[in-house]
Amino acid sequence: MKGVVFTELVEMVESVFSPDIADQMIENANLPSGGAYTAVGTYDHAEIVSLVVALSELTGMSPEELQQVYGRHLFSRFVVLYPHLVNRFDSGLDLLEDVERVVHAEVLKLYPDAQLPRFQSKRLGPGELEMVYRSPRQMSTLAHGLIEGCLEHFEQVADIERRPQADDAVAFHIRCQS
Ligand code: HEM
Repeated sequence: MKGVVFTELVEMVESVFSPDIADQMIENANLPSGGAYTAVGTYDHAEIVSLVVALSELTGMSPEELQQVYGRHLFSRFVVLYPHLVNRFDSGLDLLEDVERVVHAEVLKLYPDAQLPRFQSKRLGPGELEMVYRSPRQMSTLAHGLIEGCLEHFEQVADIERRPQADDAVAFHIRCQS
């Protein structure tokens, strides 16, 4: 997984919790890489899971809640780091519908070794979208947070329903209120 996903997690923990908690998280996670991440490096995605579990033990928040909070934060950072990928869309739903075909396709041009999930999107109506997430890394809770962060950025209020599928896929049913 690309270093940006790790450096942004460490920075979020430093600012939302504290620099001490961030240091303890890295120490307790017993990371093969040692935790000295750079944005351009590539690391085992299992380290994100170890960091989130360590953070959960330090804060008492569940790993799922932390991954979702992190997904929301990560989207707000993508807005700053990759504005051209976000600003080309008029709405959050439009971005989400094209996240694989447009956004992640551009990410793959920037980082040819990126490991990206698969999304099958279906517009069910003007304000309604179904996205089915599939990834061997099974980070659907991170995806959930990224979806929330995306809709928040475009100031769209939505109900997001999450339905696990038989083959480890997760379907998100998104219904915008406006
Ligand atoms: C401007 C918007 C976005 C950018 C720049 C972006 C970029 C990235 C990057 C760089 C990675 C890491 C790839 C790797 O480590 O090899 C990633 C992974 C991921 N992205 Fe995006 N992304 C964006 C929007 C989204 C949105 C809106 C969603 C959710 C619908 C999403 C879902 C994911 C997930 C779940 C992963 C983790 C890998 C996996 O599940 O297999 N991304 N993305």
